[in-house]
Amino acid sequence: MTNQVTFYDTTMRDGEQTIGVNFSIDEKIAIARALDEYGVAAIEAGFPAASDKDFQEVQKIAEVVEHAQVVGLARMIRSDIDAVIAATRSARHPMAHVFIATSPIHREFKLKMSKDDIIKKITEDITYTKSKINDIVFSPEDATRTEPDFLVRSVQAAIDAGATIINIPDTVGYATPDEYGAIFENLKNNIIGFDDIIWSTHAHNDLGMATANTLAGISHGAMQVQSTVNGIGERAGNVDMIEVAAAMRVRHEKFDKDTDVILEKSKELSTLVATATDIPVAVNKPIMGGNAFAHESGIHQDGFLKNRATYEILRPEMVGASSSLPLGKLSGSHAVMTKLNHMGYNVTRDDMKQIFPIFKSMAENTNMMTEADMKATMVQAGKKM
Ligand code: KIV
Ligand code: ZN
Repeated sequence: MTNQVTFYDTTMRDGEQTIGVNFSIDEKIAIARALDEYGVAAIEAGFPAASDKDFQEVQKIAEVVEHAQVVGLARMIRSDIDAVIAATRSARHPMAHVFIATSPIHREFKLKMSKDDIIKKITEDITYTKSKINDIVFSPEDATRTEPDFLVRSVQAAIDAGATIINIPDTVGYATPDEYGAIFENLKNNIIGFDDIIWSTHAHNDLGMATANTLAGISHGAMQVQSTVNGIGERAGNVDMIEVAAAMRVRHEKFDKDTDVILEKSKELSTLVATATDIPVAVNKPIMGGNAFAHESGIHQDGFLKNRATYEILRPEMVGASSSLPLGKLSGSHAVMTKLNHMGYNVTRDDMKQIFPIFKSMAENTNMMTEADMKATMVQAGKKM
């Protein structure tokens, strides 16, 4: 399939803006290698102008990454841009990510710049960056709260000056999916040279809409997704790469697009980042959460045992995970019998008439039945292996 949505990982830049996260250089190298193996198109390794440590980390990652583009972030400040150029110099595929805010609130209160000042800055600084490096991502920060006509002007200025990827940040996670899709549609209708550019999404999760917004962007022409592993990032975080990748794979016929990342390595990647950040993945998180493929209730367990697809829309093996049928008070006889037989007992449906009520009365008084509890059930029922 040629319609492959690619991923631009920002775990080590936007993701590192998570409260309490400060990767060591060794952690960053391990994450960069894992992302490269996962098949991401680009790795935003840091913000080189932020500190010597950031600069050195980007430089080191540039040396070790074999396939992906290695990117450094820069404000529209010459020393930031120079730092990116220097830090990514040894990368096989270096790229600069240059941003400036375009929304009224940022223009007035943060930048104290007029619209014309912003356009002039975009033209000058992207032209300057282009004289040093070919591949440039431009982001109009807070794009989703920017006037649509000014967003078109800003983006057109960046393209005319040499930007190769345009990223549309929903910086404060404010947009709804229809609004976010409409922004891409408006750009498609008004940007000269739209088809020569890679359009990219950048969704934050403040209102819990990051994944839906990303998919809306993809439906309206975006072919690259800026995201983080486990959805880490400033405030409520960035869109979760594995969630979007899994959605692309499961619903590829709806989007007429897929992705070529190695989804089977998702669990490994997610665990690596959870360990490095010391932020465990919530049990109910889609795809990577501990409960994402666990079925507890009797009706679900019975359906699953007859055909997994009754309650699983993707095979957990596809993302390096596995299914489980934890046993509790809502579990049914079919799952209990299956578990006992896996444990080495030889239990028939007929035996279950005696065993199941004993199981139920024990399960009602505990959260989850352990193997020891199951053995105790069988002792009470007078059954041996
Ligand atoms: O959320 C945002 O606007 C950003 C930019 C730097 C792209 O992270
Ligand atoms: Zn961001």
